[in-house]
Formats: sequence, structure tokens, C-alpha cells
Amino acid sequence: MGLNNLRLDKYISNASDYSRTQVKRLIKEGLVTVDGKMVSNPATPISESEVVHLENTPIAMPGARYFMLNKPGGVVSATKDSDHPTAIDLIDEPRPEQLQIAGRLDIDATGLLLITDDGQWNHQITSPRSDCRKTYKVGLSEPLDLVLIRKFHEGIWLEGEKRRCLPADLEVLDDYTAMLIISEGKYHQVKRMFAAVGNHVHSLQRLTIGEIALDPDLAPGSYRPLTRPEIESIRH
Ligand code: URA
Repeated sequence: MGLNNLRLDKYISNASDYSRTQVKRLIKEGLVTVDGKMVSNPATPISESEVVHLENTPIAMPGARYFMLNKPGGVVSATKDSDHPTAIDLIDEPRPEQLQIAGRLDIDATGLLLITDDGQWNHQITSPRSDCRKTYKVGLSEPLDLVLIRKFHEGIWLEGEKRRCLPADLEVLDDYTAMLIISEGKYHQVKRMFAAVGNHVHSLQRLTIGEIALDPDLAPGSYRPLTRPEIESIRH
């Protein structure tokens, strides 16, 4: 999208109902932050990765695109890969090089993958501070013990980590299947959580990210644009 030269005042007026003059005044009044710092110069250049807030509300990047993909197994959550098809290869849209993945899935994991060219929106989902809840349907090799519900709620210690995971909600569906809700996104988190209690994940499907749920009409490998309420649900 080549936003590197977009001035802060133009960026906000493109993305809101305010005129350039009104935006300049709001900036002078100290109501605008970029990456958490108040900015008083309306000509400040804004890049895609920076997060702009007006009166504590994040401002969407003008003209950005947002998709959900039902990721099949065998596809990597990356923009480029020499050995495997990538999630971006499945998105038949102009300017694919501008698309980014908002929260990766392992190559063997399936389900909800969000793809956008809005770096700020991506950041809202993936920042460690975002507290964005994700639901996974997990298939396990060993029978599930109900005591895990309490253990997961107390926070699992993952190998090599300095602190426990945040509390996670585990719902046991049958002996070998569970729903797990976590609000972090550590590397291989779900697989490592079950490994830490002596089990093994053999299938992993992501069903939700925040309020956005995998569309049951999307066949594996297909995608659709997000609706306005889905996009906005991430901002609050
Ligand atoms: N946890 C995992 O172990 N893998 C994923 O792809 C997502 C969460």
C-alpha cells in the first residue's frame, strides 16, 4: 500500500469523518498517539506497522483488506516458502506481497487464519498485551483426565519458559477431544501445553480469534473477506 509517506493528518482524515483542518486541531490538542506516544506534528510520516490512536480509539488503515482463510493441513502460515504452498498462495487478490498473516498456525494445524494488509490491526491481534482469546479444537493421543481442567486454569508451565501460561479454559468433549481457549500466542503453545501434561496433540483446528469465528461455509483452502463487524470487533 506504500503508506510510508502518508502524513499523520491525512492518514486520520482518510480513515475518519474529520476534515484535515479538524484533524490538525485534534493533533495539536494532544489527542493523537502513534505507538503510544503523543505526537504534535501533523506532518509526521506514518508507516504500516505503527498504531495510531485518536482519543484512545485505534484508527483503521485507509483502504485496508481483511480476509479469513480456512487453512488446510500442509500449508505454511508464511508469505514465502521454498518447499510448501503458503497461506498467501491461496489468496487470489491483487498485491499479494502486501498481505500479512495475523497469528500463525503450524503447518499441520487447520482452521481460522486471518490475513490483512493492515499492520495495526494485525498488531492488535498478535501483540502479547492484546489478550485476544483463541479457541482450538484439539485431538489427543492419550485419554483426557478431568483434572486437567483445573491444571490448565491454574496456568501450565511450559518447558523453557520463565513463567506459567495465563489461565486457559479447557472443555473436555470426549476422551480424546477437547476445546481449549487461550489468550496468548507462544510458539507451538497448544502442543506444548498438552506435552507438559504428558499428552500429544495429533490434530489441531483453530475455531475463533477474539469474536471472529471460522465460517462453517468455508471449505478447507477457501477464504472470504471479513465483514465490517468482524473487522471492528478486533479494535475494541
Ligand atoms: N498452538 C500450537 O501448538 N500450534 C498452532 O498452530 C497454534 C497454537
